[in-house]
Amino acid sequence: MNNKKTNSKNEKYLQEAILQEKARGTPDLEIGRKYGVTFRYIERLITRTQGLNVSALDVPKKIKTLHPKDFKEEHTTVWSFKQRGNWATHSGEYRGNWSPYIPRNVILKYSKPGEIVLDYFCGAGTTAVECKLLGRKCIAIDINDKAIELAEKNLNFSVESQQLTFLNIESHLQIYEPELKVGDARDLSFLKDNSIDLICAHPPYANIIHYTDSKEGDLSFFDIDDFLKEMSKVARESFRVLKPGRQCAILIGDTRKQKHVIPLGFKLINAYLNAGFKLRELVIKRQHNCKTTGFWYENSIKYNFLLLAHEYLPIFEKPKTHTSLKIREKEVNYNLPVSVLEKPLLKRRLDELETTTVWIFPTKDFEERLNKNVIDRYSNGSDYSTITFISHNNKGIKFTEKKKEGKIRLLFIKSPFLNNSPSYSNIEYYLKEIKNIVIQQLPNINKDGFLVIQTQDVRIDGYIEPLPKKIVDILEDDNLWLKEIVVVTPEEANSNSLNSTEYLKIAHQYLLVYEVRK
Ligand SMILES: C[S@@+](CC[C@H](N)C(=O)[O-])C[C@H]1O[C@@H](n2cnc3c(N)ncnc32)[C@H](O)[C@@H]1O
Repeated sequence: MNNKKTNSKNEKYLQEAILQEKARGTPDLEIGRKYGVTFRYIERLITRTQGLNVSALDVPKKIKTLHPKDFKEEHTTVWSFKQRGNWATHSGEYRGNWSPYIPRNVILKYSKPGEIVLDYFCGAGTTAVECKLLGRKCIAIDINDKAIELAEKNLNFSVESQQLTFLNIESHLQIYEPELKVGDARDLSFLKDNSIDLICAHPPYANIIHYTDSKEGDLSFFDIDDFLKEMSKVARESFRVLKPGRQCAILIGDTRKQKHVIPLGFKLINAYLNAGFKLRELVIKRQHNCKTTGFWYENSIKYNFLLLAHEYLPIFEKPKTHTSLKIREKEVNYNLPVSVLEKPLLKRRLDELETTTVWIFPTKDFEERLNKNVIDRYSNGSDYSTITFISHNNKGIKFTEKKKEGKIRLLFIKSPFLNNSPSYSNIEYYLKEIKNIVIQQLPNINKDGFLVIQTQDVRIDGYIEPLPKKIVDILEDDNLWLKEIVVVTPEEANSNSLNSTEYLKIAHQYLLVYEVRK
C-alpha cells in the first residue's frame, strides 16, 4: 500500500518536472533522455493535462511574413513541400497538423475570393488561417474546444487587404474573419443543403494519433473499421452541404500492421464515392521526414519493408446533375495478355534499392530502374515471370512468350497500355483479366513469394478512374496479403514549370505489392 502511494507520488513529481521542461521549450528528445520516458509518454501527458496534443506549450508567435516566398501552384498529381511552411502564425506545434501549402493550393485552385470554405477537422486552424489570408470566408469546426481555442489564437492577427495583391487580382480583396465553433463533422445540421463552395479537411488517420484525452465523438479513438463507418457519415454530410459541381479535398494516409500496409487511403476514398462523389483528382503528397540511410536502410532490406513516405489527397467533386455520363467507347479487340520474361539490364546491387514508399527515377532509365528495384527486392533475381498488358488497339497485341517452368518467387504484372487513353470497356476488361490472371497464376507462386502489379490512375471524361484502388478492392483474398503500396514517379514530372490547366497532370504510377500466404 505504502509502496503504491510512494510510486504515485514519484510519478506526480516526474510529470510536473516534464511539464516544466516543456514550458521552458526543452525538446522531447532531451526530456526523454533526462527522465527515461518515451515520446508516447510525453505526448499522452500533454494531451491529458492540456486537453490537446501539442508539441510546445503556449509559445508566443512572431509573424515574420504573411505569405510564403516564391509560392508556385502545383500542376501535377505529385505534391512535395520540402519546408512545411511557417508564414503567418503557422507552426508545427499541433501534432498531425497539415502543411499550409496543401490548403493554399486547394483554396486557390477550387474557390474564388468571397466564397465559403468548410473545414470540419479544424485542429489548430491551418485552413482557417489560409482562408483569412486569401480573402475566403471560412467555417471551421472541431470536436475539441481546446483545439478551437488554439485556432482562435492562431487567427489573432491582422491583414490589410492591400497585402493580398500578390494574387494578381486587380481589386482589393475583402478580409473575412473565419467562423469557428465546437462541433462534430458527422453532424453538419447547422449548415443548409448546397450551401458550401469548397470542403478542405484533414481527418485523424483512425486511431494512429489521439487528438484528445478520449473526448466523446473524437474519431481518433475509433479503430479502422469503425473509423470508416463514422467517416461514411461525414462523407454523406459533405455531399449534402456542398454545392453541385464543387470540390471536397481530404488528406489521408495509410497505416501498417505486422509489416503490411492497411490501405486506409483507398478505403476512405470508397466512403466518399459511396456518398455520391466523383473523383476529380487523386494527388500524392510526399512526406519528407523519412529516414533512408544507415540503420533504416539496413532494416528495410533485412526485414523487407518500406517506410511510408506518401499520403493521398483525393479531390472529390459533387456532380452537377445525376444524369449518367456520356460513355466514350473505342473499338477493342483484345488478345489475352502475355507472359514474357525480362532480365533487368542493371546489375543486381542491394545497396542501391529504394527504402521508402515513394520511388523517383530519371525519365531516361525509369522502367529499368523500376524493374530492377522490383526484381531485386521481391525475387532472388531469377525465379520470376512478368505479364505485360501492351496495347488496346484493334490490331491485337504483339508479344514474345517465354514461360518460366516450375514455381516462381515473383509474378510481376505491368500495364503500359494504360498510358494510351483507354476507354471504360478497356479498363473493365483489364480489371477482369487481372483478377483471372491472379487466380490462375497464384498456385505457381511460392508461399511467401510476391505478386507485384504496376498500374496507374487514368482520366476518362474528366474524372479519375482509380485503377490501383479498384485492384486493391477486387483482390481481397485470404491467400494474398497487401504488403506495400509504392508510388513511382519520374524526377522531371515534379518540376513546376508546367502551365496551369483545368486538370492536374497525372505524374505517378503505383506498385501494388502482395505477399502470397497460402
Ligand atoms: C489531423 S487533425 C487536423 C489538423 C488540422 N488540419 C491542422 O492543420 O491543425 C484532426 C482533427 O480532427 C478533430 N476531430 C476528431 N474527431 C472529430 C469529429 N468527430 N468532428 C470534428 N473534429 C474531430 C481532432 O480534434 C483534430 O483536431
